[in-house]
Amino acid sequence: MGKIIAVANQKGGVGKTTTTVNLAAALAYLKKRILIVDFDPQANATQGVGAYNIGVNKSSYDLLFSDIPAKDTVKQLSIPPLSIVPATIELAGADLEMSEYKVGKELILKNRLNEIRDDYDFILIDCPPSLGLLNTNAFTAADSVLIPVQCEYYALEGLTQLLSTIRLVQRLFNRKLVIEGVLLTMFNATTNLSLEVQQEVRRYFKESTYTTHIPRSVKLSEAPSRGQTIFEYDIKSAGAIAYASLAKEVIKDNE
Ligand SMILES: Nc1ncnc2c1ncn2[C@@H]1O[C@H](COP(=O)(O)OP(=O)(O)O)[C@@H](O)[C@H]1O
Ligand SMILES: [Mg+2]
Repeated sequence: MGKIIAVANQKGGVGKTTTTVNLAAALAYLKKRILIVDFDPQANATQGVGAYNIGVNKSSYDLLFSDIPAKDTVKQLSIPPLSIVPATIELAGADLEMSEYKVGKELILKNRLNEIRDDYDFILIDCPPSLGLLNTNAFTAADSVLIPVQCEYYALEGLTQLLSTIRLVQRLFNRKLVIEGVLLTMFNATTNLSLEVQQEVRRYFKESTYTTHIPRSVKLSEAPSRGQTIFEYDIKSAGAIAYASLAKEVIKDNE
């Protein structure tokens, strides 16, 4: 049964999508069967893997609200060799639509992913920058949460809120939810700030923090505009090396 990992942090711009896309690609190139669920109406992961270039018909909105088989919302890519349930802007209305359900509004994604999770080794959910019902659905469906933390001044601010949301979902809907790992992103080795944030995060999250950190790298920010992951865009870049190393850590943690 595939492991479901929600990539989440309610702060925007911390590297959730960059991590979802490039970790997914790295795992896929390591021969793991990978599904990305783009759960952010901004659809950056969908763009980032180049799915828009080959056309999107069904989406994560349909996964939530339509009667079609879950597998029919999945789009298969050959480069990178993974699958994605793309997002469209329709998803922006999903929170409100789900809130009108009388029962089971937190379980919609979980029930739908149950139909297809056997087809994959890992399912990565790229969460939106909020703590609404989309995130609650992702946490209820997931086995674990991977938290990207940007190496900047307010890095830890907001994590308290994220952790208490995770605890609430644990208590109410998903006892087995755990923290998959905390990932330091946009690390700049030349600044004291990055080093300080790293120390603080490692002190707080201890061995839950990945050994790998993701360096700040222009290549990582350029790749999505081509609809490429870092491995097609520049496989020798520091970003590619870092995400490949993260993928190995994730695999090792799940052996
Ligand atoms: N390691 C990195 N180095 C440089 N730029 C990065 C890095 N990670 C992400 N970015 C850029 O920062 C912005 C926010 O990243 P993104 O992954 O979209 O964050 P989120 O999904 O949390 O909003 C994007 O423009 C992205 O290309
Ligand atoms: Mg994003």
